[in-house]
Amino acid sequence: MIDIHAHILPGIDDGAFDMECAVEMASLAFESGVEIIVATPHSSAYGNQNLWGPELKKAIIDFRQRLKEEKIRVLIIPGMEIFASSSVPQLLKEKKLIGLNGSRYPLIEFEFENYAAQATEILEEITQQGMRPVIAHPERYLYVQEDPTILNLWVDMGCLLQINKGSLLGRFGYEEQMLALELVRRGFAFVVASDAHSSSIRTTWMNDVKELLREEFSASAAQALLEDNPLKLLKNQEIEWMEPEWF
Ligand SMILES: [Fe+2]
Repeated sequence: MIDIHAHILPGIDDGAFDMECAVEMASLAFESGVEIIVATPHSSAYGNQNLWGPELKKAIIDFRQRLKEEKIRVLIIPGMEIFASSSVPQLLKEKKLIGLNGSRYPLIEFEFENYAAQATEILEEITQQGMRPVIAHPERYLYVQEDPTILNLWVDMGCLLQINKGSLLGRFGYEEQMLALELVRRGFAFVVASDAHSSSIRTTWMNDVKELLREEFSASAAQALLEDNPLKLLKNQEIEWMEPEWF
């Protein structure tokens, strides 16, 4: 499997707090069948503004070296989880923020409680630059739960949706779980990822969600959401636009 959303770089954000924790997270991922993890530290203009540069590059090199020493065969790839703000399109253009594996597919998140009036404008600006935003965990936003029709607009614009494994497994609550399952059923979900923050809660373990997808949907759905689709993102491949069952 390929996990495109994990806060696994040690000491960079609110994810792995040190190298030991990061190694444990990688080890868990590997045991559960994950071969590639995109390290996606938070970047927000309002808080932890990690920009792509020497610090993140070094964190990845050091982590890869440590995993090699530990013989944990998980490939760590660069990425970011970018909190949407008006400065994001320009920072993407300047490559101070990057897409997953440097691709045209940036992972974008929003505020959880309130629909930011600018959210759609920001997504539009990004798409005008030839990029296709991957929206992180839309099922967790309150305003999406209340009115999922906003997803019609975002998907019609070319955005792709990333669902959290914890939502599908019911770890965030009933509303999140029901919407996450509905998004898979309707063909809105493009990829499922861990959004892992530690090795004890919100972990990198992916086998349970793979089983759930196989049981609730099909083996080919699990394969698409956990392997084939994330690989297309990392390879920066052209992704065919697929019409979901609209809300
Ligand atoms: Fe995240």
